[in-house]
Amino acid sequence: MANELTTHFTGLEFVNPFVLASAPPTESKAKILRAFDAGWGGVVTKTIGLHPVENVAGPKTIYQRTSEAKPYVSRMKRPDTVSHSSWNWELISDQPLDLWLPDLEEIKTTYPDRMVIASIMAGAGSQEEMENWQKLAKAVVNVGCDAIELNLSCPHMDRKDMGANVANDEEIITAILNAVTSVVDVPIWVKLTPANSSLLDGAAAAYAAGAASISLCNTFPSLPLMDPETMKFEVEVDGLVSSGGLGGLAILHQALQRVNDISRAFPDKSISGIGGIKGFREAFNFIVHGAGNLQVCTAAMEEKGSGGVGVKLIQELKDDLLEYMQHKGHASIEDFRGVARDRVVEHSKIRRKSEDYNGGYAKSA
Ligand SMILES: Cc1cc2nc3c(=O)[nH]c(=O)nc-3n(C[C@H](O)[C@H](O)[C@H](O)COP(=O)(O)O)c2cc1C
Repeated sequence: MANELTTHFTGLEFVNPFVLASAPPTESKAKILRAFDAGWGGVVTKTIGLHPVENVAGPKTIYQRTSEAKPYVSRMKRPDTVSHSSWNWELISDQPLDLWLPDLEEIKTTYPDRMVIASIMAGAGSQEEMENWQKLAKAVVNVGCDAIELNLSCPHMDRKDMGANVANDEEIITAILNAVTSVVDVPIWVKLTPANSSLLDGAAAAYAAGAASISLCNTFPSLPLMDPETMKFEVEVDGLVSSGGLGGLAILHQALQRVNDISRAFPDKSISGIGGIKGFREAFNFIVHGAGNLQVCTAAMEEKGSGGVGVKLIQELKDDLLEYMQHKGHASIEDFRGVARDRVVEHSKIRRKSEDYNGGYAKSA
């Protein structure tokens, strides 16, 4: 039954706007069913590819915390800490496509009112790679997935034609969109990396080629910290580390800026907001900058006793959003979506103590 939390996004009806992002919380049928049981409105599956992956021989994700007493960031156990971020170097799903397909079908049959968005990724260096995108897209749509999210944002791919490495290449973005939209007829979400010098160009290319939405942000490429005593990185294999991705509360502000950038440039287009959502207040901030849908990863993974799918978290998110909307008299999140969008302006538009704006450069005549 429709209520204030019902959200229409990219032509799909969500029972609430909260979706588990593509990551460990959505890596298996068991977890996705548990997540839907708990009340999530949708899931974006862990990214599915066509070739086997082998993860590093050590922890794939660490949770970093800080404390008031000594506010350094570390994964080390200390009393009275609060969450700062996750850091991961996990590759895409290690479950092959032919095992995913019956699982996806069963999930959709069990929960027809919940949205299942399949995250997919292939390369882009050849015609064969383009056909791989098509193969993946057709297969997941055949078993009932409601939408597809193209992973153009994984921060730890060595290949130049995969993941975040393609984000600065509008031609590749367009070619992938064209390949996929020519074979399936569901909404296509495009997940972009925030670590991109031409985010707006990438978003423009994606929307122009038929993307129903941009999902933003994936994790920020980053390094784990080294411990001064042990001289080891807090996560490493044989003393070595590679670029990984920072997620969680630490990326909230940067993610909001990226969402606002896209929202101001394309106010009529859809955005799925991701990055540091832990509760209502962070979700609210994405909505006021224009996001019509919210994805959560680190906070769900960190919740103890929920099997990493955020059972308590989704209840809190729904309760707190509903309470806010009833208190403010909003009929849906559309009533306040985007209200902060145009309150982000150029520096020179901000009032000065004196009449004159002096930006630190010579005024043109
Ligand atoms: C361990 C881990 C694995 C992830 N795997 C994927 C993935 O396979 N595909 C993808 O698009 N994003 C992946 N992500 C990124 C998340 O979906 C999300 O964009 C990011 O963590 C930011 O959201 P958060 O701040 O709520 O964690 C992963 C994140 C983590 C922590």
